[in-house]
Amino acid sequence: MRTTLSTLHKMMRDGDKITMLTCYDASFATLLDDAGLDTLLVGDSLGNVLQGHESTLPVSLRDMVYHTQCVARGAKRAFIIGDMPFGTFQVSPQDAFRNAAEIMAAGAQMVKIEGGRPMLETISFLTERGIPVCGHLGLTPQSVHQLGGYRVQGRAEDAAQRMLDDARILEQAGAGMIVLEAIPAVLASQITAAATVPTIGIGAGADCHGQVLVLHDMLDVYPGKKAKFVKNFMKAAAGSIQDAVGLYVKEVRGGRFPGREHSF
Ligand code: KIV
Repeated sequence: MRTTLSTLHKMMRDGDKITMLTCYDASFATLLDDAGLDTLLVGDSLGNVLQGHESTLPVSLRDMVYHTQCVARGAKRAFIIGDMPFGTFQVSPQDAFRNAAEIMAAGAQMVKIEGGRPMLETISFLTERGIPVCGHLGLTPQSVHQLGGYRVQGRAEDAAQRMLDDARILEQAGAGMIVLEAIPAVLASQITAAATVPTIGIGAGADCHGQVLVLHDMLDVYPGKKAKFVKNFMKAAAGSIQDAVGLYVKEVRGGRFPGREHSF
């Protein structure tokens, strides 16, 4: 049976950690499904790890639709989230709806949109019309040039307060989940304590309701420089992909990943 957003909200209420990894193709979707992953994110990180770009900016809607279709064919149980790529949701809520509808029709059960307060109207528009939305705060890779690089966000007091406010605004707009990327663990903990929807951390400490990593990072097959929050599960599992993924699920569920060494 397919995991639903209600299942994930219940996990949050019961204190069960939610496991998520990125996924871009049918074979890995089946492998991750079999390993018990709760959610698969068809991330626009595919621009980096599959296409070899330096950022996620060149990823197109067509790319996201194609990879979402592949993942949906392979995963029968996990909840599938499709990223809305750069330029497909910022212009108008109507435009965002048309583009999100394509990702949903490709097999996603939710779309993810980067950004805080400026996304309020769009998130309301989508969720009021039946498209579940996952927010994404902190280090939002589509804004890498605006942020001046891939840096930890929310360190200063005013920036931390803005992020707390943004999380509340996203929830009020109807977001059903929020990814928190590369922010201090203490800030993620505050956002999580105030949230009524699951927070999923990547470089956001151990207190989030769930965790996500980029698959190619945790399997150590991406040749680029690794962020501090990435753990090499392939090494920890002595070279078996199935064991590496199984270990990730076990460590997230058991509260053992991320450790302090992976947090800011
Ligand atoms: O695209 C992606 O993989 C993501 C994760 C880093 C959260 O957005």
